Amino acid sequence: NPTCCINPSILSADFVNLEAELAKIANADAVHVDVMDNHFVPNLTLGFPVVERIQQVSPVPLDAHLMISDVDRWAPQYADAGLASVTFHVEASNAPIKLARELRARGSKAGMALRPATPIEPYLDLLPELDMLLIMTVEPGFGGQAFLDVMLPKIRRARQAVDGSGVNVAIQVDGGITEETITRAAEAGANIFVAGSAVYGMPSPEEAINALRAKGQL
Ligand code: DX5
Ligand code: ZN
Repeated sequence: NPTCCINPSILSADFVNLEAELAKIANADAVHVDVMDNHFVPNLTLGFPVVERIQQVSPVPLDAHLMISDVDRWAPQYADAGLASVTFHVEASNAPIKLARELRARGSKAGMALRPATPIEPYLDLLPELDMLLIMTVEPGFGGQAFLDVMLPKIRRARQAVDGSGVNVAIQVDGGITEETITRAAEAGANIFVAGSAVYGMPSPEEAINALRAKGQL
């Protein structure tokens, strides 16, 4: 797989001390920011004004994961704010190709996410429009859930399609990534790993990132 990235999720950070929490993960490749609207998923986190501030103070690039309905309407402003990468759920978009093009035109990488029950096959034609494919390895909504091993075939299929078509699309996995599960996800073909509890739940987030990176590199 291409180079491994560890993107800690600030969902597991202390929301009242975000600047200090961001400083703890300066050795990460990017910070994963989970935006939830209590509609697309049954949980509410933070919205655009907070993401904008995080963008201003973060020591690493931002990787936004939008778990929101009506995402065609709301995603472009995140790209306008200068985020490195903006990921929308295909289940929430009426026009995923149009949206991916809009994100790229605004200077962000375009990511597309699939819930665990969403098959990958219907979307393989969209790969050239994307910079990243996010395969959820838990049901989106909450941190601290167990990795779904039944997603491994989907990751393998994504890796096969990406390599077979020669497109430059990263394969991100999100949910239940630990020092144990990261190996299986990497072997299946993932190369960007989101980890919430396995980074912020540890005494040293910095050491946790290094340990995960060592295991995610095949
Ligand atoms: C879940 C979020 C994840 C979450 C992962 O809906 O998309 O990014 O923070 O948390 P862990 O790593 O604890 O499963
Ligand atoms: Zn996420």
